[in-house]
Amino acid sequence: METLYLSAENPDTAVIAGKIIQQGGLVAIPTETVYGLGANGLDEAAVAKIFEAKGRPQDNPLILHVSETAEIEKFCHSIPEAAYTLAEKFWPGPLTIVLPARDTVPKRTTGGLSTVAVRCPDCQVTREIIRCAGVPIAAPSANISGKPSTTTAQHVRHDHDGRIDAIVDGGPCRVGVESTIVDLTESRPRLLRPGGITPEQLRSVLGDLVIDKAVTAQIDKDAVVKAPGMKYKHYAPACDVVIVSGSREKAAAYIHSHFEASDRVLCFEEELPLYKDCAPLAYGKESDVSTLSAGLFSALRILDDPGIHRVYARCPIGEGVAFAVQNRLKKAAAFHIIDAEAEV
Ligand code: TXA
Ligand code: MG
Repeated sequence: METLYLSAENPDTAVIAGKIIQQGGLVAIPTETVYGLGANGLDEAAVAKIFEAKGRPQDNPLILHVSETAEIEKFCHSIPEAAYTLAEKFWPGPLTIVLPARDTVPKRTTGGLSTVAVRCPDCQVTREIIRCAGVPIAAPSANISGKPSTTTAQHVRHDHDGRIDAIVDGGPCRVGVESTIVDLTESRPRLLRPGGITPEQLRSVLGDLVIDKAVTAQIDKDAVVKAPGMKYKHYAPACDVVIVSGSREKAAAYIHSHFEASDRVLCFEEELPLYKDCAPLAYGKESDVSTLSAGLFSALRILDDPGIHRVYARCPIGEGVAFAVQNRLKKAAAFHIIDAEAEV
């Protein structure tokens, strides 16, 4: 199959891509978080193609992308007032809301669950594609399952060239990590995945927020979890990733004493001079966490190289978007963290 490349700036793109979706094809779509691999979310056969192209486990449900809030009423029932308040405040934007699903949504899309995840992305061309398609777009991150997510059209081309119908190039993704997921189907709102909308922002609207244990700890493969995607190995380059926490100086001392020729260091720009002899790669500035979230997946993709044995990674501390960066990096490291302050 020849993959069609479409620029977000081309005025015909939304119509062309919308038609491919309508006819059951696969289109990679840009969003403010990461690129998605999109298909008609109401068409079982089209959705099946997403799972096949990604090599994604069948029990891992997809997010339905809508072009405006009112559309969720076609796919969800018993919608609490809080969902509308969140949508009003944060949509279009990097927030996904889990709600009770209507029968209009196929089980293939929900992974067999009675709930469905919905989101309105902050990307004009993608909302226009949804409008032109006339159906919600089911879209996981466009990466091959288990690999770092796709934050540029080139990443998508690398993973899927010749295997999907089209790629819409909207440039690099602004946020760079996937959307925040909040589940509103229980008595208390629950954070299933941190992202661009922070726990503090959610609490300011919801008052209450439970942080699901899958956000902060390694989850057993056989465990029953709220967001099935959280239990799988994720975001990881082929080699071992080890997070080294602690002060700049202590971390550098630890890494220098363990570093071998085939290793790499993933650090903050401010730390580059400390690792001159360790093939350092900076993913953003520690002083501006949004550059770290925007740069993380590109960096993890560069480090997905069979010649690399181990990556020593530096992780931002604190709340806000740093919480999402910590979550992705800890998952890439399978929660292997060394506290340099405790090492002699
Ligand atoms: O930013 C994003 O959310 C991107 C862009 C493309 O919109 N999409 C994305 O999709 O990250 P994906 O499939 O890579 O991650 C979706 C996550 C998975 O962990 C999945 O298990 C969870 O959402 N999920 C989907 N539906 C759910 C549901 N009904 N209940 C709980 N978790 C759900
Ligand atoms: Mg994903």
